[in-house]
Amino acid sequence: LIASPNNAASPVIRKKLMGFVGFSNLPNQVHRKSVRKGFQFTAMVVGESGLGKSTLINTLFNTGLYQPKEPLPPSAERPKTVAIESISADIEENGVRLLLTVVDTPGFGDFVNNDESWRPIVEDIESRFDQYMEYENKVNRQKLIDNRVHACLYFIQPTGHSLRPIDIEFMSRLHTRVNLIPVIAKADTMTDEEIADFKTRVLADIACHKIHIFQAPTYENEDEESLAEAEEIASKIPFAVVGSDKIVTTPDGRKVRGRAYPWGVVEVDNEEHCDFVKLRQMLIRTYMEELREYTNDVLYENWRTEKLLGMGVVQDPTVFKEVNPAVRNHEERVMHEAKLAKMEAEMKMVFQQKVAEKESKLKQSEEELYARHKEMKEALDKQRGDLEEKRRRIESGRPLTPEGKSSTGRKKGFLRT
Ligand code: GTP
Repeated sequence: LIASPNNAASPVIRKKLMGFVGFSNLPNQVHRKSVRKGFQFTAMVVGESGLGKSTLINTLFNTGLYQPKEPLPPSAERPKTVAIESISADIEENGVRLLLTVVDTPGFGDFVNNDESWRPIVEDIESRFDQYMEYENKVNRQKLIDNRVHACLYFIQPTGHSLRPIDIEFMSRLHTRVNLIPVIAKADTMTDEEIADFKTRVLADIACHKIHIFQAPTYENEDEESLAEAEEIASKIPFAVVGSDKIVTTPDGRKVRGRAYPWGVVEVDNEEHCDFVKLRQMLIRTYMEELREYTNDVLYENWRTEKLLGMGVVQDPTVFKEVNPAVRNHEERVMHEAKLAKMEAEMKMVFQQKVAEKESKLKQSEEELYARHKEMKEALDKQRGDLEEKRRRIESGRPLTPEGKSSTGRKKGFLRT
């Protein structure tokens, strides 16, 4: 009897089978199902303009997926921030479909001040995590779209010195959010010795700054072949790559993908010329699923925990209770409703204020009108009184004063006979 690690109450009994049952076919079922569903993979490329990012992606996936950009004319206005552009393609190989998305980051490292070049990239990666978390919390999760970045190829300039501050800053900011795969761009511009020295210095810098780069994983009970493959791939990091989607002819007449120089041909797919084959092995052939799994199980999971803790969701460590999405949804709805009620109250207050203002204005103009009316009425009354008086005097034959009033005293020339 073996106690189950998850639940001590239900013991697990190991028994020998009496005959064939059929579950040994499970891996085949999984295989068929995944082939039918197809795969999704998102790769990001980061590095200064002209380091060969587009060329390498086209070389890796053997497509013309990614059109190299035309260089800007000198008079053109240059963008002021790093942009994020993504392009997707449905590709197929031996019946296996892959929805490949490449995320480019034009502008990275191309400005006079590159202090904040990493920020839009981190924001983009985190917004993809955010989007995924939103999908996860939906009532209907049938069409869960995974836009998370599974690998980031970081292009290091082939300077031959060591990492530059911008490289260290970028990798330090990104290594907890994405699988970093450093590559030395345009490796054909350096000799074998220079490449070896450069790699040593780059690895020393990476170790010194405690940057975590993606390593081929090794498991217990792994066969020797897989262990050797993982070791070989690890020994090539950072991959010194050469990209070319052109077919050239070697001096011995072979047609190969490569770059032709007056002194010979650099073959992309020749392991003696560059590490392209090993990079492809790591990114596509052997570890694509590992990259996806690490993104989901470690990088996304850590980000999600940080985010939930930041939102004030606490997990009781003694009970080990999972954060319940329904409870969180309820909390979010309550918060949303409170926000709406606050907005409504504020709007009501503003409305009442405006009505009161209007009313007081109306009252004021009413009072003014009334005062004017009263004034005019008084003036008219007075005028009427004067006219009445005048009429009376005329009718009684009494002379009027120069002001029009009748005189009571006797005056010269007005003697009564
Ligand atoms: P942006 O599109 O501006 O971001 O540049 P990019 O990094 O995508 O570079 P792109 O692939 O457009 O390549 C720029 C130039 O470098 C082109 O002329 C390529 O032919 C050349 N190039 C690409 N890869 C290599 C390489 O491995 N070695 C050498 N020597 N040149 C390369």
